[in-house]
Amino acid sequence: MNAESRARLNQTPEWAAIGKHREQLGEVQLRDLFAKDPARGTQYTLQVGDLHVDYSKHLVTDETLRLLRELAAATDVFGLRDAMFRGEKINTTEDRAVLHTALRAPRDAVIEVDGENVVPAVHAVLDKMAAFSGKVRSGEWTGHTGKRIKNIVNVGIGGSDLGPAMAYEALRSFTDRDLTVRFVSNVDGADLHEAVRDLDAAETLFIIASKTFTTIETITNATSARDWLLTELRADQSAVAKHFVALSTNAEKVSDFGIDTANMFEFWDWVGGRYSFDSAIGLSLMIAIGPDAFREMLDGFHLVDEHFRTEPAESNVPLLLGLLGIWYGNFHDAQSHAVLPYSHYLSKFTAYLQQLDMESNGKSVDRDGEPVDWQTGPVVWGTPGTNGQHAYYQLIHQGTKLIPADFIGFAEPVADLQPGLVAQHDLLMANFFAQTQALAFGKTPDEVRAEGVPDELVAHKTFKGNHPTTTILAKELTPSVLGQLIALYEHKVFVQGAVWNIDSFDQWGVELGKVLAKRIEPALTEGADVPDLDGSTTALVAKYRTMRGR
Ligand code: F6P
Repeated sequence: MNAESRARLNQTPEWAAIGKHREQLGEVQLRDLFAKDPARGTQYTLQVGDLHVDYSKHLVTDETLRLLRELAAATDVFGLRDAMFRGEKINTTEDRAVLHTALRAPRDAVIEVDGENVVPAVHAVLDKMAAFSGKVRSGEWTGHTGKRIKNIVNVGIGGSDLGPAMAYEALRSFTDRDLTVRFVSNVDGADLHEAVRDLDAAETLFIIASKTFTTIETITNATSARDWLLTELRADQSAVAKHFVALSTNAEKVSDFGIDTANMFEFWDWVGGRYSFDSAIGLSLMIAIGPDAFREMLDGFHLVDEHFRTEPAESNVPLLLGLLGIWYGNFHDAQSHAVLPYSHYLSKFTAYLQQLDMESNGKSVDRDGEPVDWQTGPVVWGTPGTNGQHAYYQLIHQGTKLIPADFIGFAEPVADLQPGLVAQHDLLMANFFAQTQALAFGKTPDEVRAEGVPDELVAHKTFKGNHPTTTILAKELTPSVLGQLIALYEHKVFVQGAVWNIDSFDQWGVELGKVLAKRIEPALTEGADVPDLDGSTTALVAKYRTMRGR
């Protein structure tokens, strides 16, 4: 079904049927659902690759899930999925194919864009990255003065930063611990300052990551990094070749910047920024963990791609997670979605998902440019457990908002944890299981009273429960499992965008701020007149200039 022939989402019979079902279900209680069906805890589960997904603690029945799947069928989610995998230009506002799945396809796959098989080019770049990573890791690639490279600084922002930065943290125990790997993204000079202040320039490699190579933050930081390096080394431009490489789709701009295009690792316009870290954008990660572990990660992505592409609706995990989000966002007025990893190594995972989900589905017009009159993407937030438990979990447990949450945990601690610390893992995971139990089942006033709590405190100590959660449990956090997790969320976001009939692959919402910043900068530096500047911003600019003594 193409966009033109689609009925307005909230005027379809399938949408109405879910609304009616929601009314009939009323305030369904998880306690009752489990009492009625003791096998729920094992039956409402699915497996994808190494990920065990428990969705039993959701406010759903078999009928809810059936109706949600009918909505997915009516909105042709699988039709759009197949078009994506085939390389059709489903990013209509930018007239681009959406083929991050080709980045992790096996060498012998055939995926065509405009009649050309893109898989050989993908693998040629991966091979080039592997060769370069090998040289850096072995010490064969040296800096301008002949010293071995010991420090890697990735300079990029958004999709050219969040993915490798997140994955580097996630896979730290797989990294070469002799390398220092840092990520600079913010145009605030403090970011670069802190990243390089204790580094020896002679041992430092900068990876300039930018799909467009025009992003002001990245080009500004890259220019400052080049100045820093040349000053530290007291060298001329010729030193750049051994200390700067680029990851980009834009060879011309890379060359203008002064980086030899022989040291450029390319990718393509059919890779969206927030879907790019398994492309050349992952070079810093590949240097850190090595090409073999990087390939394991890509295979993990691919495994979930294949699951999403081939699994029937009833057992298709990304479809299920996407539909559950629609159930809460569109039929329970949930505004946000928490992602709560019980692994310190996933400390940047939710920040990564914020771009993936919110830049993709933060849209308010449909594919035809018509305003949507249904809710689209949620606010995604969260930090690793157990820290959140001592901060905002209070609101999830006893506040007035419905916040569906994903809990992600692992049976094994990472392999190289000191033996003394391994014992802490069971305590971490006891908290993991306890929280979803408490959120689902709460504590009734009677249970509170039975503990001898005085009447005036009973209401305060009651937990109403019924807070929905998904539990994702895997044996351990390996490169493959990380790839599986990310692909799972990529496809979940896809499912939701398909149902909402929005273009999940453009990001026009970031443009206005960029344009205005360019106009305002001369007002800050030179006091230039900015035509049509509003009263509030004019006054703030004047205040700023006074504070700066200008
Ligand atoms: O924030 C807008 C955006 O275009 C993102 O989609 C992208 O990941 C980021 O900027 C960085 O872009 P580039 O890789 O072209 O520097």
